[in-house]
Amino acid sequence: KFMGELMGLNVLEEQLKGKLHVKKVLIIPGNSDENDWVKREMGKACVTFLQSIMKEKMIIAVTGGTTMAAVANAMTPLNKSKDYLFLPARGAIGEKAENQSNRIVTEMAERANGEYRLLYVPDPLSETAYQTLLTEPSIQDVLQQIKSADVVIHGIGDAITMANRRKTSEEIMTKLQSNSAVSEAFGYYFDEFGNIIHKVRTLGIQLEDLNSMDHVLAVAGGKSKAKAIVSYFKQGKSDLLITDEAAAKQILRG
Ligand code: BG6
Repeated sequence: KFMGELMGLNVLEEQLKGKLHVKKVLIIPGNSDENDWVKREMGKACVTFLQSIMKEKMIIAVTGGTTMAAVANAMTPLNKSKDYLFLPARGAIGEKAENQSNRIVTEMAERANGEYRLLYVPDPLSETAYQTLLTEPSIQDVLQQIKSADVVIHGIGDAITMANRRKTSEEIMTKLQSNSAVSEAFGYYFDEFGNIIHKVRTLGIQLEDLNSMDHVLAVAGGKSKAKAIVSYFKQGKSDLLITDEAAAKQILRG
């Protein structure tokens, strides 16, 4: 029976690759909306995949969120050289401290025996502060490294869930609702066609930077994220999706 289930997931992975036009899909059994262990298993799968692609001196940029926190939790040393650097992909975008990328890269680096650098950017960030920070040498230095990342690992969220979780103003909330925002990743909000509805102002990776990166890994599961995952992949250029069975089945039904 177990082998049968595994083969079933392989079939789902193939179908999902076709539907989302993504190079590689890994599906974990279960539904992470209902069971925390499913998210933990997605985290482990992500670490195992990282081990398979790791080379010396790699730079890994990571977003925030509970799924990325699960990846951090599963982190182990990635290769013998231990010579790699973890960085937040972007400045903080309204998350609780434990789900912020700065906190997550610190934990990843500690568990992997790697290095890390943080991005200290006020959250939320005004246009003037943004322009000023861009000229700060120490910030420019980290930004340079972020833009040269070899690997990016990120979550995908349901747009309204994410907007509620963040310090989102009523004005932006209205903008998201009236434009039917469906998904969110990297602080970008997308509609069902993948159009960008809104972008949280912060420093770090911009969507177009993903095109030049070798490995962009998305980790997102749970039946509730099915629409968000489809919407993100209309625009997002990630190479790998690690998801769960419930999200996969819901996506294929839709
Ligand atoms: C955020 C990422 O931190 O996590 C987003 O920047 C993503 O890209 C979100 O949408 C997902 O959060 P969670 O808790 O559902 O993993």
